Amino acid sequence: MIELNKKNIPKHIAITMDGNGRWAKAKGKNRVFGHKNGVKAVRETVESAVENNIEFLTLYAFSTENWMRPKLEVNSLMNLLISSIINETKTLMKNDIKLMAIGDINKIPKTAKNKLDSVIEKTKNNAKMSLILAISYSGRWEIINAVKKIIKNNVDANEINEHLFEQYLDTKNVPDPELVIRTSGEHRISNFLLWQIAYSELYFTKVFWPDFRKKDFINAIVEYQKRDRRFGK
Ligand code: IPE
Ligand code: IPE
Ligand code: MG
Repeated sequence: MIELNKKNIPKHIAITMDGNGRWAKAKGKNRVFGHKNGVKAVRETVESAVENNIEFLTLYAFSTENWMRPKLEVNSLMNLLISSIINETKTLMKNDIKLMAIGDINKIPKTAKNKLDSVIEKTKNNAKMSLILAISYSGRWEIINAVKKIIKNNVDANEINEHLFEQYLDTKNVPDPELVIRTSGEHRISNFLLWQIAYSELYFTKVFWPDFRKKDFINAIVEYQKRDRRFGK
């Protein structure tokens, strides 16, 4: 068993769950098979995050750009997302986990949106950990959306600073992630949390998302604990 330094546990970990399609392809299966097999990795990661007292876990589930994928894949992803959330509601309640969503969620099909809203409502007083799903999310969308809200509120230009701007982001009241993990060997951000990752530690692993397990999550935190965070000082 790897021992983590309890004094240096990140409050917020954000993960780009990538590589489902390639995982399936390597097995001679279709991409949707890969997405279905990603659910177990989500479950393990959430469990491990709770066990290690992570306060916020953000999972990048679907990007703004992912709407441009074939309709069949988009529909399967939406169905899978909602059925998983429904199936896991009991576990969320049992483990005192609050579900939140960031992104342009009005874009998701109405019935899916209603179900998502109902689980968010049901878990809103849970306090052990916040599980934040980034759905129909992109960092640029979020920033532009914040600008629109600021203008609609007639905010004086002189009042705008980092603190105020953050109040208009979807991640309002959520600390910036100390650690961002991306699976599948791609070394890019793909429009994830652009504002919030200014000083995040980035961790990349070749493991495809459906193979990601507790030990991989722990390894990322171990690596994080070795980093020297200087914040430009
Ligand atoms: C991640 O896996 C899931 C989503 C982006 C929704 P991909 O579907 O991107 O799989 P690869 O990257 O093509 O292997
Ligand atoms: C990022 O992965 C989005 C999610 C994991 C939800 P993509 O597979 O969409 O990103 P690119 O296309 O490799 O940049
Ligand atoms: Mg991908």
